[in-house]
Amino acid sequence: MTAKDTDWDGVRLHVVTGKGGTGKSTVAAALALALAAGKKRKVLLVEVEGRQGIAQLFDCPPLPYGERKVAVAPGGGEVHALAIDTEEALIEYLEMFYNLKRAGKALTKFGVIDFVTTIAPGLRDVILTGKVSEAVRRKEKNGAFVYDAVVMDAPPTGRITRFLNVSDEVSQLAKVGPVRNHGDLVMSVIRSPQTVVHFVTLLEEMPVQETLDGIDDLKGTGIKAGGVIVNMERPALLSATELKEAAEGRLDLTEIARGVKAAGLDNAEAVAAVLAAEAGEHAQRTALEAREKARLAGVPYRYELPMLSDGMDLAGLYDLAQALRDQGAA
Ligand SMILES: Nc1ncnc2c1ncn2[C@@H]1O[C@H](COP(=O)(O)OP(=O)(O)OP(=O)(O)O)[C@@H](O)[C@H]1O
Ligand SMILES: [Mg+2]
Repeated sequence: MTAKDTDWDGVRLHVVTGKGGTGKSTVAAALALALAAGKKRKVLLVEVEGRQGIAQLFDCPPLPYGERKVAVAPGGGEVHALAIDTEEALIEYLEMFYNLKRAGKALTKFGVIDFVTTIAPGLRDVILTGKVSEAVRRKEKNGAFVYDAVVMDAPPTGRITRFLNVSDEVSQLAKVGPVRNHGDLVMSVIRSPQTVVHFVTLLEEMPVQETLDGIDDLKGTGIKAGGVIVNMERPALLSATELKEAAEGRLDLTEIARGVKAAGLDNAEAVAAVLAAEAGEHAQRTALEAREKARLAGVPYRYELPMLSDGMDLAGLYDLAQALRDQGAA
């Protein structure tokens, strides 16, 4: 690991964002496993975009709208999961604050939920973050927290600050009363030291830029940035000297051809030319990755996860969780 170690002690809500497709859902799931491991903890992984990505990652049938145990971490900790269904959550909300259970059902039927989310788009976010913060605050009868930690597979970087900063939306919806109080309660969890926002990125220009912008956006909101997780890192296949030669097109083709011949392949010269071209591309990509990594140098907490070459499966998810633990993330 390239930064100070931290196991995010005291943090109970981990929000995982990043540019689309960088691995937010995968990293959120791995982090949930990592947090549950070792200390026999109970962790809730929450999906807010209704795409059933968690069920896929944990190889289980689509999640109903309810909390379910989806995995046991090494050492006996548990990962539970919740895929929030926005419509169900909206009905719950209306019931809780307006006693509108029946109206809620009618709303779904007549598609008025679309209407509500159109006239008060912020309401949707308040309901989602509200659900998550309720799980963070929930206690057993004996006063202990039900979940030691909650990990949110959150919307992408471009929308995260607005998504979390629900108080602005709520203050437009209600100045006083239960809706406003609820909004304030949600915000107090999100702004507390219990909550951090982690950014998942690849070593590519756009995701790194979005990460730096996202961290910047949080400044002044009272919401804290957590770690930056560089996902899908590929190992350098050549030495520094070889990379330099490959980038400059100075690889010794005769020598490569000799190696190809020794390996028993035909057309050694042609194969050598292809290999040298590939090495050149690899060298350029490695140089670009190094540049992007340098742009992340000022980020206090950085973690690196390898590209799993056999693709993602449950075993791979456990490997990523272990990698996060090895780097002190949990
Ligand atoms: N470390 C990794 N090694 C190999 N494949 C990975 C890794 N991390 C993620 N992937 C794969 O990359 C793809 C995108 O990952 P994922 O769905 O987690 O991204 P996402 O940021 O949640 O995407 P979206 O923006 O669509 O929600 C998936 O096919 C996933 O299996
Ligand atoms: Mg996702």
